[in-house]
Amino acid sequence: MNKIKKIKNKKNKTKLICLTAYSKNIASTLDKYCDIILVGDSLGSVLYNFKTTKKVSLEMMINHARSVKAGVKKSLLVVDMPFNTYRDPNEALKNAMRIIKQTKCDAVKLEGGKKIIPIIRILIKNKISVMGHLGILPQTEKKFVFKGKKLKERNKILEDAKLLEKAGVFSIVLECTEKKLSKDITNNLKIPTIGIGASINCDGQVLVTDDLLGLSDGKFKFVKQFANITKLIDQAVRKFKFEVQNKRFPKNKHSFQN
Ligand code: KIV
Repeated sequence: MNKIKKIKNKKNKTKLICLTAYSKNIASTLDKYCDIILVGDSLGSVLYNFKTTKKVSLEMMINHARSVKAGVKKSLLVVDMPFNTYRDPNEALKNAMRIIKQTKCDAVKLEGGKKIIPIIRILIKNKISVMGHLGILPQTEKKFVFKGKKLKERNKILEDAKLLEKAGVFSIVLECTEKKLSKDITNNLKIPTIGIGASINCDGQVLVTDDLLGLSDGKFKFVKQFANITKLIDQAVRKFKFEVQNKRFPKNKHSFQN
């Protein structure tokens, strides 16, 4: 069974595990536990200190995805198409093909609903697997507030989700959709939903790995910090400095002698 089919088959059976990775070493550890590894354009804010994801380029995504690919053996590898790389079907196809060819990833992720259906259709027609992304759309969002407060907005997101499924996406990320809305969407689709800030009512969960590890300073309501890696790095580097300054490192065993 191919990887995409395996992911789809997990709906209603077991929760899907998805995390972001931007480089090989982290990816190779995540690979043991994840169904999906996402090279998210969140790398713009997490790694490059950009205020929004708008400045993330195709080259950045490709370079990081190539590194991640080197650490991935079994998970499905998805790469975000960055802002302004899928403004029309031709541009999207050219750029998606470049991502797939240069990174050997399994699928691309695009943000949006009804407006991008013709783009999704052309990618799928060309045998490119696509993951959707609804709710908060960081590439174009003005205000980062949860989605689904008003009925009109709820109906629009649910409608978009159905249209994405019909167009052939294999899964949809729901970002910060209200709990009951997440449930309605998940129950109305045959494909799995992957939530971030979208409650327990999704078929799977994604987080930005740097947030989960306590490497970033992001303090979003929907993040749970499962470790404090910054503290561990601090301890290790402090010890390194101490040992170097006190001539305890390097020892003979770390040196080359004739
Ligand atoms: O860019 C990203 O990392 C994402 C996830 C947060 C879903 O899109």
